[in-house]
Amino acid sequence: MKIVSTVEELRHTLPTDQTIGFVPTMGYLHEGHMSLVENARRENDLVVMSIFVNPTQFGPNEDLDRYPRDFERDEKLAREAGVDLLFYPTTETMYPLDMARVTVRKGADVLCGASRLGHFDGVLTIVSKLFNLVQPTRAYFGLKDAQQVALIEGYVRDYFVPVEIRRCPIIREETGLAKSSRNVYLSDTEKEDASQIFKALTTARETLEAGHDLEEVKQRLTERLHEIPNSQIDYVELVDYPTLADASSDSKEILMAVAVQFERARLIDNVIWKKG
Ligand code: PAF
Repeated sequence: MKIVSTVEELRHTLPTDQTIGFVPTMGYLHEGHMSLVENARRENDLVVMSIFVNPTQFGPNEDLDRYPRDFERDEKLAREAGVDLLFYPTTETMYPLDMARVTVRKGADVLCGASRLGHFDGVLTIVSKLFNLVQPTRAYFGLKDAQQVALIEGYVRDYFVPVEIRRCPIIREETGLAKSSRNVYLSDTEKEDASQIFKALTTARETLEAGHDLEEVKQRLTERLHEIPNSQIDYVELVDYPTLADASSDSKEILMAVAVQFERARLIDNVIWKKG
């Protein structure tokens, strides 16, 4: 595996005659990232991963400074997973002038966007820069960040970006807890409590399948999440997927998404219900 950190090195190293599967990350890799690499390896000649903790997607009171980082560990995991090229740029490399940024017009004022103002502008800005640099054939994103996936798909369509976006399933612990770099902030007891989130979502999906109306499903899901000790609900939403508009009885796919705040970590999780 080759590691590069400048634009010049990257451009010099990237092949022009091979398909490129791209896995953008913020590091502190876990099995979720590994499964993205696995998918990318299966479908492309070459796998490129980026590790960059993107400052523009963090709000002023968020965890940018304490976001977990361990490059040595990440490098080893990326190598073992079969990444061919690791791009590890600095902030100066990714934001040389910081004169222009991408702005999201629809779908950023709900779910995580409602409590993380400007977050998705930051995400789309960095994703756009990375796509321009890597010029991947396909790019791989986990559905744990289902809103992020929908907005990236929208951006790619609006800007005619020649890349295929691949949606990859959420990878979970045996308890059901969705894998996340931020799980390191949880105590063992909190991890156990947090596993209730997926159980609540699974029950919500069953309730929806049983024909209950959307309001009732949302109410029951909220009640169930309220029972999780030492945590606070940030949001519980049922939205049409991938438009992120309000869900209705006409929706073909409904994203049931939640965010729950523990002492040191805000966890998000979701399930997508498909009609029929
Ligand atoms: O999902 C992430 O890890 C980040 O939001 C991404 C897509 C790498 C952009 O910084």
